[in-house]
Amino acid sequence: MSSKEKINRETLPDHIAIIMDGNGRWAKLRGRPRIFGHENGVQAVRETVEAAAELGVKYLTLYAFSTENWNRPRIEVNALMKLLVKSIRSETKTLQKNNIRLQAIGDLHSLGRTGYNELLTAINKTAHNTRMTLILALSYSAQWEIVQAVKSIAEKVKNNKLAVAEINKELFSAHLTTASFPDPELLIRTSGESRISNFLLWQIAYTELYFTPRLWPDFRKEDLYEAIINYQNRERRFGMTHDKVV
Ligand code: FPP
Repeated sequence: MSSKEKINRETLPDHIAIIMDGNGRWAKLRGRPRIFGHENGVQAVRETVEAAAELGVKYLTLYAFSTENWNRPRIEVNALMKLLVKSIRSETKTLQKNNIRLQAIGDLHSLGRTGYNELLTAINKTAHNTRMTLILALSYSAQWEIVQAVKSIAEKVKNNKLAVAEINKELFSAHLTTASFPDPELLIRTSGESRISNFLLWQIAYTELYFTPRLWPDFRKEDLYEAIINYQNRERRFGMTHDKVV
């Protein structure tokens, strides 16, 4: 039986989030500049999006650029931004053809005018697609997002639009950039690092974490299938006991 056939379609995660890591090391292993790794990471993105949509996953979030990534050498940041803009532009047609909606989370204005406009165009063009939502985390960090939410809630309290007693988990979630998406059931990180690196800290409270040594440019459909099968073999207890769950 192939690994795709081993997947139970009934218990598929609705939302998978991925920390795409290892592009730099992949390039270094080949004696090439880091951007060569990012360029080859685009094929892994294509395969993963295609595999997720084919299976029937509803939301796929990819950590493409973190707030901290701005601190990388200027030459890498510029090349990565160019690559992201180019990829978004060139892949929009494929997203359309496959009925995939593009969304983005993060401090999107910091991408610069060209990047922001390109992204917005793709988001608008794909807005009515229904098969799967692809969410790009761009200039994103969870701590940045949480601070934004706190500020916006504090503003409302200050202006008497909200009472402190009304603040609860649901209200807080509604002030995050992910307000219209469900929390991920599965988070994958490639490259063998076992860290969360400021990604979706609030949203992964009960998410299953899966770490694979595969470097991102080598990540293929089979790797996604393996991660999903691993997830499906776990018992999700949400703080309850085994007896309560079964
Ligand atoms: C992490 O590897 C990867 C990134 C910071 C960028 C990811 C971007 C892409 C895969 C480009 C295409 C993306 C889209 C959405 C079209 P790293 O540089 O941290 O690798 P290292 O840990 O080995 O140094």
